Amino acid sequence: MMAFGFCLGFALLLFVWSTAKCDQISNGVLHMECRDRYFMIAADLSFTGNEPRFEAVDETGVYPITEQYAAECGYSVSVLPLQGHVELRASYFSCHTDNKDDAVFTFNFNLLANHSGEATYTMNKTCSPSLPWSPREVTCELNYMEVSVRSDVACPTGTKKDDWDAAVNTAYTSATSDWQVMFQRAEQKLMPMNLSEAHKHGYVFDLTDGRLVFRTPYGQPDSFSTEVNGVPVEVVHATLFSRQSWVVLMVDLVAACSMYEGSYDENGYMMWKTPEVLHPLLSGLHNTQVNIGVNGEFLEQPVAEERGYIVEKHNGTVQLSIPYNADGGYRKSFVTDDLYEYYVFHLYLEQISVDEDHVDTRLRVHRTLATPLLPCPVFTENRTVNEEHMFSVYLGDVPDDVELAAVHLNGHKFTVPFTNTSRHTITKVVHPNSTHGYTLKVPFDDPVVLQQFSKEDAAMQHKLDINYTLTVLPEKEPFYHFASVMAQSDVSPPEFDAICLESGIRFRLDHRPFDYLWYISIGSDLLTSELAAQHGYIMSNNSQSLLLEVPLFTHGYEYKDITLKGFLGTFEILIRDHATSEVQSSTVKTCPFTATELIMCSTDGRMTVVADLSLAIPSGGIPARTNLMDKYCAPKEVDDTRALFSLPLNSCGSIVKLSKEYVTYENEIFYSKKLHTQKNPSHSSIEMDRVKMQCTYPLAGLLRLFSIYRFESDTVGVGRHHTFCTLDSRATDFHHPAHYSASNSSTCNQPYLETWVPPSSSVHQSIHLPEESVKERS
Ligand SMILES: *[C@@H]1O[C@H](CO)[C@@H](O)[C@H](O)[C@H]1NC(C)=O
Ligand SMILES: *[C@@H]1O[C@H](CO)[C@@H](O)[C@H](O)[C@H]1NC(C)=O
Ligand SMILES: *[C@@H]1O[C@H](CO)[C@@H](O)[C@H](O)[C@H]1NC(C)=O
Ligand SMILES: *[C@@H]1O[C@H](CO)[C@@H](O)[C@H](O)[C@H]1NC(C)=O
Ligand SMILES: *[C@@H]1O[C@H](CO)[C@@H](O)[C@H](O)[C@H]1NC(C)=O
Ligand SMILES: *[C@@H]1O[C@H](CO)[C@@H](O)[C@H](O)[C@H]1NC(C)=O
Ligand SMILES: *[C@@H]1O[C@H](CO)[C@@H](O)[C@H](O)[C@H]1NC(C)=O
Ligand SMILES: *[C@@H]1O[C@H](CO)[C@@H](O)[C@H](O)[C@H]1NC(C)=O
Ligand SMILES: *[C@@H]1O[C@H](CO)[C@@H](O)[C@H](O)[C@H]1NC(C)=O
Repeated sequence: MMAFGFCLGFALLLFVWSTAKCDQISNGVLHMECRDRYFMIAADLSFTGNEPRFEAVDETGVYPITEQYAAECGYSVSVLPLQGHVELRASYFSCHTDNKDDAVFTFNFNLLANHSGEATYTMNKTCSPSLPWSPREVTCELNYMEVSVRSDVACPTGTKKDDWDAAVNTAYTSATSDWQVMFQRAEQKLMPMNLSEAHKHGYVFDLTDGRLVFRTPYGQPDSFSTEVNGVPVEVVHATLFSRQSWVVLMVDLVAACSMYEGSYDENGYMMWKTPEVLHPLLSGLHNTQVNIGVNGEFLEQPVAEERGYIVEKHNGTVQLSIPYNADGGYRKSFVTDDLYEYYVFHLYLEQISVDEDHVDTRLRVHRTLATPLLPCPVFTENRTVNEEHMFSVYLGDVPDDVELAAVHLNGHKFTVPFTNTSRHTITKVVHPNSTHGYTLKVPFDDPVVLQQFSKEDAAMQHKLDINYTLTVLPEKEPFYHFASVMAQSDVSPPEFDAICLESGIRFRLDHRPFDYLWYISIGSDLLTSELAAQHGYIMSNNSQSLLLEVPLFTHGYEYKDITLKGFLGTFEILIRDHATSEVQSSTVKTCPFTATELIMCSTDGRMTVVADLSLAIPSGGIPARTNLMDKYCAPKEVDDTRALFSLPLNSCGSIVKLSKEYVTYENEIFYSKKLHTQKNPSHSSIEMDRVKMQCTYPLAGLLRLFSIYRFESDTVGVGRHHTFCTLDSRATDFHHPAHYSASNSSTCNQPYLETWVPPSSSVHQSIHLPEESVKERS
């Protein structure tokens, strides 16, 4: 039987039997330790649920450890969400601990967890404290004060436990109240009461094998608060006495603890203090030696110093200063509008002293210190490197218990983590100092980025507003952090590389990320694969580059310096602003080309023809003797076989034909045996096959039709020239039979000749009228 049962048996009256079913506890979730003066039992909250409960168990029953019961019986239960566990400290002298000679203590208890349904775990722990008991020990727990004194010091020599028990039993059974307790407040003595009465008031007295134990919750009516050296102190002073015939035995039991709540100074220290002498009856506490500890364990002094814990004595008080973020403490983030943090430090302190009689007193204090809410700003840093064409923004100093939940990018919400298909990315960076950060990367051309083109700087301005949503764990309380970044990228419109081919020009453009700012046009037409197909351009486009091959004589060419040796062809690609359609730049490529024959019908109303006349003129004849319908229109240039004519459409006797949609200018090449001279205009003798040439323009594209001033077409005309052979029936069927004139020339052995054979695939375009619709005239 436990001592208290004999000593102060009333506790027995309270027990409640309950049947506990036994559950097996998994490894690692429960820790039990023997500390100097108490059992330490810690269970993970993740295992126990948020409201774990304990029951103390002994042979007499099962006792739920309620808040009140804990304070009376020597238990202290703390839920410590920051550490993630619940901690039960049970004094070795707690009510339901089995005590063998103050040397071996066994604590049986139940842990009632509620993780997936209620479960009861029956546990036990046996401890033998290695530290010998001091004559007087005082514990200032969080919820109670406990004093134990060696009974051979407290009680008169020869008063054995049995005598005490007997006395109590006597007191209990007989009406004569032998053991009485009298509380003293300041100098005021209160009415004595018997021990059962005292227990009803929450006081517990116990006599163990060798010690007399007294325990009281804080704030009892019989306690008094005082101030010692400027430090608030709570004192309970109990005098036990017994009148045994003519002898009166008296024992003074004083429990006194510093009630200083702790403070925080501007240098970042949590402070706590206690008087060196708490009460005159604890007068042994002069010249105290102080040990400091944390979480219920003392530290070696060098370790404490290294951690920055400071112990000083001033004016009869012991003052402790703990750096707010010192090792051993716990930190928690907290949101009120912005992010704050606070630190909690579970202080453990011991004062040891030796009085004149060499009796040492140990006083131990458990206190929880906390800082006020301290601002805990996160920050953003612009790490954008313009050349990378993406924003890089670092969000730093994010505490461990805070995580990024979402970002709003210019108002568009993206939850974190991003879907892995998005072009913006977020990367977590973990630092050894218990903070982490996030690097957000968003390409300048991402659709969420606001873009503005600045013509003055020839640069693109990009703007990104970032609103980070961070949440504090585990409660998921959100707060926001805002950052706005800008960047400018010097951008020039894209430029094509161009090379001359024998049969056209090849353009190449390597895509850049911001090329979406412009579009490519040929003249006024947006370059698309449809347009390319329509005009016979060969286009291939992939994510790397765009290749455009424009065959000679396709739409968009301009020609000049046309001679029999060759000519220059120019093709222009325009780069236009996407928003305004303004031309921002252009790539113009001019290449030399050669062709044995050609006909060109320019927009300004000029027909240029290089014709191979070797088959058309009589053998031995020379091209220099040719002329047009107006016989004074002679070739500009000739060689052995070819002649070059260049004439305004409506000159040299051209015939104009109008149809509903087209206008055609037509002329012919004639051969005369003699050279024409101005002097002899009437003399002409025509003996050759006729070579007909014509230019056809869509009427809709003509800005001014054949005026005397100027010819203007917005497209070139389609030209062709033909040699008509006398015996060729197909020639007779030609579109313009009116201009057919019979000739008996037998030199024409190639009856039908289409002299202009355009390169590659666009043959048909040369003989068909263009299909494209022509721009509206304004
Ligand atoms: C145990 O937890 C469940 C839900 O998790 C709750 O409904 C129940 O009330 C809890 N039991 C006790 C005794 O707290
Ligand atoms: C104490 O616990 C151990 C296992 O932890 C068990 O084997 C033993 O029976 C228990 N003792 C009592 C008295 O419950
Ligand atoms: C203790 O005192 C109370 C009230 O003074 C009394 O009712 C009770 O009987 C006493 N008990 C003992 C065991 O003396
Ligand atoms: C000690 O007490 C003196 C006088 O009461 C006072 O001036 C001094 O500031 C005190 N020192 C400390 C560290 O409290
Ligand atoms: C994206 O997600 C899909 C499916 O979840 C996965 O198969 C793929 O590997 C991921 N890609 C990247 C780049 O992470
Ligand atoms: C934590 O470490 C990172 C990386 O060294 C540093 O940038 C940051 O400022 C540190 N934060 C704090 C609060 O010390
Ligand atoms: C950031 O987002 C939150 C919630 O959407 C909003 O309340 C807050 O005003 C935003 N902050 C800024 C600067 O836009
Ligand atoms: C961010 O970085 C870019 C690139 O270095 C710079 O152009 C810009 O001015 C910086 N500041 C802000 C507020 O965006
Ligand atoms: C070529 O492809 C890119 C993407 O691969 C596209 O952005 C661009 O518009 C394309 N260009 C043309 C002219 O089709």
